Amino acid sequence: MVKVVVLGAAGELQHATRWIPLVVICVLTILRAGGIGQPLALLLKANPLVTELGLYDIVNTPGVAADLSHIATPAKVVGYLPPDEGLKKVLTGANVVVIPAGIPRKPGMTRDDLFKINAGIVRDLATGIAITAPKAFVLVISNPVNSTVPIVAEVFKKHGVFDPKKIFGVTTLDVVRASTFVSEILGDLGKAPSISVPVVGGHSGVTIVPLLSQSTVPLPSGFAKSDLEALVNRIQYGGDEVVKAKDGAGSATLSMAYAGAEFAAKVIKAIKGEKGIVAPTFVNLASDKASGDALKKEIGQDLEYFSAPVELGPEGVVFINPLGKLTDYEKTLVEAALPELAASIEKLGLIPIIFIGCILHWLFQVVDEEIQAINETL
Ligand code: LMR
Repeated sequence: MVKVVVLGAAGELQHATRWIPLVVICVLTILRAGGIGQPLALLLKANPLVTELGLYDIVNTPGVAADLSHIATPAKVVGYLPPDEGLKKVLTGANVVVIPAGIPRKPGMTRDDLFKINAGIVRDLATGIAITAPKAFVLVISNPVNSTVPIVAEVFKKHGVFDPKKIFGVTTLDVVRASTFVSEILGDLGKAPSISVPVVGGHSGVTIVPLLSQSTVPLPSGFAKSDLEALVNRIQYGGDEVVKAKDGAGSATLSMAYAGAEFAAKVIKAIKGEKGIVAPTFVNLASDKASGDALKKEIGQDLEYFSAPVELGPEGVVFINPLGKLTDYEKTLVEAALPELAASIEKLGLIPIIFIGCILHWLFQVVDEEIQAINETL
């Protein structure tokens, strides 16, 4: 039995789950929804290995679940909303929890600009997972991934249930983009599914490091250095390309849903005991101490998190693969990624913001209770 849960399944969960209704209404009216949850839920429903699909969001999940439940695949679909302990109910018995919830970027924003809002959302959801499904695999899509993954880890540590082997930042879209763009250069999109390029580092700008020298299908011989640099830049800023094209209507949703479902499919196969499942993902390097320490030596920095090709097993991370032989240019890309990665991961930077989020959360609860008390007396 494999129960997969999507938190943010209707594409609307873009604020802390227990903010006062007024704020919920304002946020929903003013901002556009992220929109990854629904296509992701569709792709997960299409996965024959999923036996139960749990959907959770602030609105619409019963409708989305009813719609998906008519598709003739094995997964039983259930949709929950926050009232009546919906989060607890959806998470009960979950093997895999995917978190696409959060606000998307607008043109001109970096993923880090989403931190203040998305950190609070991820923190609240992680708290729910730590309490109800502490043994589940947690797949974090919400940006900025380089920071939201450490937040999940910190929440789990606070609850005494931290297992670094089971918390993953989904960086698959960078891998998907690399395959697609290389196949475009080769003039044959039909090759895209068979092209695999390891993309390491993190999931934001210069922290996205495609190792094109290790592509399973090589670039054309004599490929110019300037063209290589342009290709690397396109992979690093592929997200911005979509944000710009959507012109204020959000960021990648469909390709992100595809990538999230691809990574979830690998995780599910690993849970079911399939051997040799390897995927680049942003993990805590303590998840396999020996290979994590070896990777730290390879990159020359004692980072706590890094995205590398990771071998997955039924209990999570089995082995973190080395980056392998890099070209001089790739070495400079790794070096350039390290300072930004370190800053995003740095816990001392995260803790005050999480703390401020806790105070805001508490304040909103107090206001919420006051409003309820006033309503009751009216
Ligand atoms: C992406 O890579 O497309 C996503 O991380 C969304 C974004 O903000 O770019």
